[in-house]
Amino acid sequence: MIKPRSVPFFKPSLGREEEEAVLRVMRSGWLTTGSEARAFEDEFARFVSSPHALAVNSATSGLMHAMQAFGVGSGTTVLTTPYTFVSTATAAIHLGAEVRYADIGPDGFNIDPAAVDRALEEHNDIRAVVPVHVAGLPCDMEHLCRSAGKAGTAVIEDAAHAFPSKTAAGYAGTLGDAGVFSFYATKTITTGEGGMICVRDPDIAQRITRLRCHGIDRPVWDRYTSNKADWLYDVTEEGWKTNLPDVLAAIGRVQLGRAESFFEKRRAIARRFSEAFAGYDFLTVPPDGDGHAWHLYLLGIVPELLNTDRDGFGHLLRDAGISISLHFIPHFEQTWCKKRYTLSRSDFPHAARRYDTTLTLPLWPDMKEWMIDQVITTVISIGKAQYRRRP
Ligand SMILES: Cc1ncc(COP(=O)(O)O)c(C=O)c1O
Repeated sequence: MIKPRSVPFFKPSLGREEEEAVLRVMRSGWLTTGSEARAFEDEFARFVSSPHALAVNSATSGLMHAMQAFGVGSGTTVLTTPYTFVSTATAAIHLGAEVRYADIGPDGFNIDPAAVDRALEEHNDIRAVVPVHVAGLPCDMEHLCRSAGKAGTAVIEDAAHAFPSKTAAGYAGTLGDAGVFSFYATKTITTGEGGMICVRDPDIAQRITRLRCHGIDRPVWDRYTSNKADWLYDVTEEGWKTNLPDVLAAIGRVQLGRAESFFEKRRAIARRFSEAFAGYDFLTVPPDGDGHAWHLYLLGIVPELLNTDRDGFGHLLRDAGISISLHFIPHFEQTWCKKRYTLSRSDFPHAARRYDTTLTLPLWPDMKEWMIDQVITTVISIGKAQYRRRP
């Protein structure tokens, strides 16, 4: 039997420009956070029209700092979705806070604004609502910000997937009180590991600047470049060590310049998938919409029409050379969450259903034509072969 060629789940688009940027920084003699990180922040802030953008070593750190800056800590809770990566929740737990969950909506993967409203009415300890723009499709931010505003609660967007998600109201990640982007290896632009926090309030920006560097009042770069005594500094509160080094920031600057072209390619591939899959009743295509960044392509299967389930379908895809992933295993299915909270699948019927029926297909800007075709034909042929009610 001829083995099918394999389609990787993801490959970053890195070229000569990124290589040269890394070399430039290495040769400069300044490796930690300095002028490159500053420039990356300024360029990113300009791109998304945010008054402040603060580079950090991951979105996880970014979420933690944004939450801390908005008063999340012991005795408070954050409200988020179970249909997200673990660190959306553990960022709050590491601060001594607890997590409450609202289900996703029936039509997509994002938190249900009506469920958020109910939770805000029932509980007065919610310090921040943390919507997640799953796969890069923006949540209903108008509704969420209105509800949170009435409740006196901050909105911290988990925009890890959502660059560049441009909506009529502005970029996702700049619509709440704070927004946090990820530049992890598979994200829409990457620095290998990294993140960016966007905030409007200058005092919050100042606080986060200190939090990411031990709570020190003057970043090393300032001490090095200012003409005030460079050996003096004060630690104003206990902080963390989560700054983004210049080598990574330099890669980020190049990637930022390529972001629009990456986005156009991702969207074109995603739309080809959806057009190809739309005619088959055993598949469901993900929602499209205003500002979708298409970080992930979340394909739904309809197990009732198939002789296999999600994992079975996944194994067949893998055997046919298509690497897949899973977004997300909801928190109520994970051991850490079960140990901490008593949650039931039946409390989150939409998240449970999506978990049971969703697979993530390869989607990256440099996918070759044959790869895109192979993904499409393989998904359809597996679905047809497994179809229960043959026409
Ligand atoms: C929704 C979501 N939030 C947060 C994160 C954490 O990002 P990072 O790896 O940059 O910490 C991820 C990572 O994949 C994610 O998917």
